[in-house]
Amino acid sequence: MATGLYIHMPFCRQRCHYCDFNTYAGIEALIPEYLSALASELEQASHIIGAADPLTSMYLGGGTPSLLTGKDLEALMSRVRALFVLSSDTEISMEINPGALQAGELQKYAKAGVNRISVGVQAIQNTLLKSLGRIHTFEEACQSLEMCKNTGINRLSVDLMFGLPGQTMGQWQESLRWAAAQGIGHVSFYGLTLEKGTAFYDWEQSGRLRVPNDDVQAEMYEWGRGYLESQGFIQYEISNFSLPGQESRHNILYWENKTTLGVGAGAWSFCEGERSCNEPSPVKYVEKVMAGIDLKVERHHLKGRAARGEEAYLRLRLSEGIDLNAWHQAKAMDLRDDFMTEIQSLKSLGFLLETSNRLYIPADKRILANEVFERFVVEE
Ligand SMILES: C[S@@+](CC[C@H](N)C(=O)[O-])C[C@H]1O[C@@H](n2cnc3c(N)ncnc32)[C@H](O)[C@@H]1O
Ligand code: SF4
Repeated sequence: MATGLYIHMPFCRQRCHYCDFNTYAGIEALIPEYLSALASELEQASHIIGAADPLTSMYLGGGTPSLLTGKDLEALMSRVRALFVLSSDTEISMEINPGALQAGELQKYAKAGVNRISVGVQAIQNTLLKSLGRIHTFEEACQSLEMCKNTGINRLSVDLMFGLPGQTMGQWQESLRWAAAQGIGHVSFYGLTLEKGTAFYDWEQSGRLRVPNDDVQAEMYEWGRGYLESQGFIQYEISNFSLPGQESRHNILYWENKTTLGVGAGAWSFCEGERSCNEPSPVKYVEKVMAGIDLKVERHHLKGRAARGEEAYLRLRLSEGIDLNAWHQAKAMDLRDDFMTEIQSLKSLGFLLETSNRLYIPADKRILANEVFERFVVEE
C-alpha cells in the first residue's frame, strides 16, 4: 500500500512576511527536546501503519528542516529506519532554506538517506527577497543549489513565487528563466496569497502594501506555465512542473488521497478515511508527547458523498485528472452520476473536459481551479 511519512520542523530563523505555515522564530533552543518528542511520536505512528510495506516516501518539511545538524538528521533517520521499512526506492525529500543551511551538513543529509531536495528560492531579485522578509540573498540561494548539486543528490527542485508586491512581469520571467537553466528536474511556483495573521495581510489591509491584481497574477501564471512547458517541463499539478520521472512522489500521495502519516507539531495525517491534526504549538507538543497525552487537536472523518467529493477535487489538482473507470471500480459508483449537476455545469463552462474516460481541468483553466473544487465540497 502506498504510504508517505511527513515530519514537520516548526522552526525558522525569522518569519517571512507572507507565511502562515505552522512555524516559529526564536525557539530554536527547543530543538533537542523536540527531536526527542519526534522519536517518541514516530514509535506510536509506526504502530498505525505497521511495518509490512516499504514507505513510498518520506518528507521533511517546515518550517526549516535545514536547521537540523547532519548528526541530528542521522539520528532521526536511524529512528525512522528502525521503525519503518525504507527501500532503495523510497523518496526522501527535504526542504532547504538557503539562509539556514550550515556548510558541510548537506553531505551528512545525503549520507543519512536524503535523495531529493527542495530549495526555497522564491525570486532571483534581492530587492524582492528583502521585501518578502527572506533571510538570504539570491547569491546565497545559488550557492545552496550548487552545494546540493555537489552532494550528488540529483533530484532537485526550487520554489518560486509570483504576484509579489512590486514584482514586474519581467522579473518573474527572469526568475523562471534562471530556474529552467539550472539543470534541475523540478520547479514549483505559487501565486502569493495574503493569509490572515501575516505581516503582508495587515500591511495590505492598512494600505501600506499593494499587491498585483488577479489579472496580473493570472497572466504571470499563464506565462510561467507556457514557458516551463516550452523548456521540457511537464505540468503534473497546478503548481508543480517536472522533467519526466522527477515528480514529487510524496505530494502525489496527497493528491491521490493515499495514506500519509504526519509527525510533529501541527502535522496532518490521513489514515483509514480520517484526517487528523497534531497539537500545533511546539512547546505543548513536546509536553503532550512526554506526558503521553493525545496529540490530536482535530479529527475529521468524511463519509459517503462528502468523502468522494473531497477525493475528486484532490485528484483534479493533478493534470491527468481522474480515471473514471478506475474510480467506478474502486467506489462501485460512476462519478458522473454522483456529481451529475456539478460535472455537467463545469463541462458546459469549459472548466472540465472528458477524454478517453478521464475527467480533468484543461490547462488554460488551472489558474481558476478553485472554482472547480468548490463544486465538489458537499455536506455529509
Ligand atoms: C513550507 S514552505 C518552504 C520551505 C522553506 N521554509 C522556505 O521557505 O525556504 C513551502 C513554499 O510555499 C510557498 N509559500 C509559503 N507561503 C506562501 C504564500 N502565502 N503564498 C504563496 N506561496 C507561499 C513558498 O514558495 C515556500 O517555499
Ligand atoms: S522560511 Fe519558509 S516556513 Fe519559514 S517563514 Fe519563511 S516561507 Fe515560512
